[in-house]
Amino acid sequence: MRGRNTAFIILPGRTDVVMCGIVGYIGPRKALRVVIDNLKKLEYRGYDSAGVAVVENGRPVIVKKKGKIADLESSLDGQVMDGQLGIGHTRWATHGVPSDRNAHPHPDCTGEVVVVHNGIIENYAELRRELREAGHKLASETDTEVIPHLIEANYNGSLEEAVRAAVSRLEGAYALVVISSREPDKIICVRKDSPLVIGLGEGENFVASDIPALLRYTRDTYILDDHEMAVITREGVQVKDVRTGEARPKEVFTVTWDAGQAEKGGYAHFMLKEIHEQPTAVRETLRGRLKEGGVSLPEIPEEVIRDARRVFMVACGTAYHACLVGKYLMERIARVPVEADLASEFRYRDPLIGPGDVMVLVSQSGETADTLAALREGRNRGAHVVAITNVRGSSIDREADAVIHTLAGPEIAVASTKAYTTQLVALTLLALRFAEVRGGDREQIAALVEGLKNLPELVQEVLDTEDEIKELARKYSSSDDVFFIGRGLDYAVAMEGQLKLKEISYIHAEAYAAGELKHGTLALIEAGVPVVALVTQPDLYEKMVSNITEVRARQGRIISVVYDDDEKAREFSDEMIRIPRTDPLLAPVLAVVPLQLLAYYVAVERGCEVDKPRNLAKSVTVE
Ligand code: M6R
Repeated sequence: MRGRNTAFIILPGRTDVVMCGIVGYIGPRKALRVVIDNLKKLEYRGYDSAGVAVVENGRPVIVKKKGKIADLESSLDGQVMDGQLGIGHTRWATHGVPSDRNAHPHPDCTGEVVVVHNGIIENYAELRRELREAGHKLASETDTEVIPHLIEANYNGSLEEAVRAAVSRLEGAYALVVISSREPDKIICVRKDSPLVIGLGEGENFVASDIPALLRYTRDTYILDDHEMAVITREGVQVKDVRTGEARPKEVFTVTWDAGQAEKGGYAHFMLKEIHEQPTAVRETLRGRLKEGGVSLPEIPEEVIRDARRVFMVACGTAYHACLVGKYLMERIARVPVEADLASEFRYRDPLIGPGDVMVLVSQSGETADTLAALREGRNRGAHVVAITNVRGSSIDREADAVIHTLAGPEIAVASTKAYTTQLVALTLLALRFAEVRGGDREQIAALVEGLKNLPELVQEVLDTEDEIKELARKYSSSDDVFFIGRGLDYAVAMEGQLKLKEISYIHAEAYAAGELKHGTLALIEAGVPVVALVTQPDLYEKMVSNITEVRARQGRIISVVYDDDEKAREFSDEMIRIPRTDPLLAPVLAVVPLQLLAYYVAVERGCEVDKPRNLAKSVTVE
């Protein structure tokens, strides 16, 4: 008997970053129709290729295409596919460019085992080598492709056992769905660190990476937990522990959300969902990058780093604010001179950049016209071009000499949140790598590596204070002007805090280096004006307190962002936002989170259209 749970809830711990979309079907209907219908429900999250596999006359037929689902449908035109077992996938490239070949599903050598996968297989290079040596033919550049071959290699008459054996070899994150013509009466799926939901029907069953993909057919689901596998047939679903093979009891979760809410994972807006995805996004971006006392960044040749004369960090908007943090870190940790530039200014100032310089372009979308133009300018003048982007296959991704990918997953809200924090992580890794190669302080590098490991949990701790920030937002939502001040890294974060607030709440907001206030802006401070003061840099603490005192003398109201063990903060604050203590060089990743939440809740209070603020577009492809 299935248990029942009909409450409207945000699934606990379900803020996984879903980068790709998975669907699967077994039952009496034409699987292709169901799979395509359900894939379309995942389109909103962004993807670069799509594919399906249907078992037809005893063999899986795979059709996959770079581009949109509509392109896939065109290539399916005229194909008769009546099979009743099928899987589908929308890919957001992580390993290998977007292409027909890299699109999922991926088959084994015989074409009898077919897999779709979300997540990242960290040890795929080693597994590829091993499989090739054993005679397997791998056809794509993806990490996923090792999985069907591992299943093939372990098949001894039971697909379930072969999947278990294959999974025991995988390191990393995965949501896997497997079908095979050898056992065409079942779908097998496994979850670790990447979501999977089983849809329960009458005489038919479904699987998907995300609830919206199921709602057309069913609202009753099993939400898989890590290390669970499900064997899905028409008649039923057995859930087991993939490590032991033992049965796991499951409660039915009945979805009461409408489709729009489901797309947002139960959150009111994409922005809020994306803010909550930050612990996972940061963890994914760090995955495989940290080693004992150092970092792994093989994308950038060692000699480029060793010989770099200067670094230019160039970007727009939020990504530019990440560059301000990056400049500070690189100069501080690696002692390399850095210029941080707005992309829209860079190419028009006849920049003094050339051979021996490293240019770092930061762009979530990888398509921002100003940033792309700056990249070409730098490259034409002979600089080594490194991109930090969230979108594989984007123009900036393709044109750069080297790329560090942020693994934030698709960002849908116009206001950038998880892209920013992952850009900070990527820039920190870059600064650490420069320090390593150029003889930086080993102890400092090791301490920062340890600090990075703890960041995802600390971001979660900040998110846990959401209710307090919401209250604060309610109190200050009718302000006409808000100022953000800080020194050093705190100033860089203040810049991002003010942009978030003005972008979505339309309140006039400005950021100032706190020491600059007395050179003009102090004239604007009068009774009751809110001033968000970031105080996370111990070496600048006393100076910051003096600047705060200047504001309080004019009866401005100080909302401070301070460490949770800062005993003195109460004396200079009207309101306090607490963050957990970390290495001050990593504090921006934590300090920005309450500012994102503040902007979000102020915008909600003011009735603004949070995800699509007026006059703005997600990707700015005009100069
Ligand atoms: O895609 P990009 O990172 O290149 O975009 C750059 C800016 O347009 C972007 O960060 C913009 O400032 C955000 N909407 C701010 O939230």
